Amino acid sequence: FQSLDTLDVAGKTVLVRVDFNVPMKDGQVTDASRIQRAARTIRELTDRKAKVVLLSHFGRPKGERVPEMSLKPTVPPLQEALDGLPVGFADDCVGAPAEQAVAGLEPGQVVLLENLRYHKEEEKDDPAFADQLAKLGDLYLNDAFSAAHRAHASVHALAKRLPSGAGRLMQEELEHLEAALENPRRPMMAVVGGAKVSTKIDLLSNLVTKVDALVIGGGMANTFLHALGHDVGKSLCEKEMADTANAILQKARDEGGDIVLPTDAVVARELKAGVETEICSVKSVPGDQMILDAGPQTVEHLCRRLEDCATIVWNGPLGTFETPPFDQATNQVAAKAAELTRANKLLSVAGGGDTVSALTNAGVLDDFSYVSAAGGAFLEWLEGKDLPGVRVLAESA
Ligand code: 3PG
Repeated sequence: FQSLDTLDVAGKTVLVRVDFNVPMKDGQVTDASRIQRAARTIRELTDRKAKVVLLSHFGRPKGERVPEMSLKPTVPPLQEALDGLPVGFADDCVGAPAEQAVAGLEPGQVVLLENLRYHKEEEKDDPAFADQLAKLGDLYLNDAFSAAHRAHASVHALAKRLPSGAGRLMQEELEHLEAALENPRRPMMAVVGGAKVSTKIDLLSNLVTKVDALVIGGGMANTFLHALGHDVGKSLCEKEMADTANAILQKARDEGGDIVLPTDAVVARELKAGVETEICSVKSVPGDQMILDAGPQTVEHLCRRLEDCATIVWNGPLGTFETPPFDQATNQVAAKAAELTRANKLLSVAGGGDTVSALTNAGVLDDFSYVSAAGGAFLEWLEGKDLPGVRVLAESA
């Protein structure tokens, strides 16, 4: 790839694809971490006297100018992340508003353009729309790994129209994800949790051939237990996915992969904070109860195995962590991973969906070696898929 290590940006207008698709409530950003993580590239560009034009999507407005999906509320947290540097805003990403805003930029200045998805052409990877974007700059940097799984105009077609490279956050994501999965130090463990097998079939099928131990937790473990003939009572379980679960178990047997399922569980009659709980073997879940977390024996086993591991990739919680006390298994195994990471015995990489909230709840987010800013893109990457936004950068290099 080209990157800020190889591109000369001084005096140039640089289009930077960022991902400011951040949690927002009542017109206020409620979690600015993606914005803060994009600041490094922007700061480096302004220090090196580039004119910086930021492109992003927000939400899924499907080509309509939905006012609640404006990127304008991201300007204050962005300015804060840039230590008070003023950031301009153009209320369209193409046409006269964008062109005027860009023409007025001096080296070292920054403008953010309005939501790319206000134009339906963005999601269609439309060549004419990409031409209009390309017209605004001299160079293109993609710093949005978290949107790299979308073959959209600002992620894909645009990269073919200008000298292109990866921003610092994109570089950082790829470096850590490659270290964790492409060339990991072994033994390596993957923890995959979450509610449903149906959303993670490709991910499980890919990981089972790559890792030394694949720990399956959360609601999807119930589907595997059911497939193995256990009665899971009232637990969340996709009975129709039993064949798929068996196929994944068979693949593990055929290819020497090791799938680790819970052996005991914390069960209750309903999912409610403060409800009466019981611990039982997965072989004897009472018919009127549901599995809501992995049990202490499972936790102890996972912590012990983790001590022998050199790498862990984590996606998804081991129980219904939003409702205590069913966050205990996630918290304890995550704490063990954090402890081993701090002692330099483990490389720990996490990402995707609920994972950041689960690790934040466990109080260990900052102790992991690396936490990806990506949701869906992280999952597709674990599936072994080629991400269009990454591939196109390699091709244009
Ligand atoms: C994300 O939040 O995962 C990315 O910004 C992609 O958003 P999308 O799923 O709406 O394409």
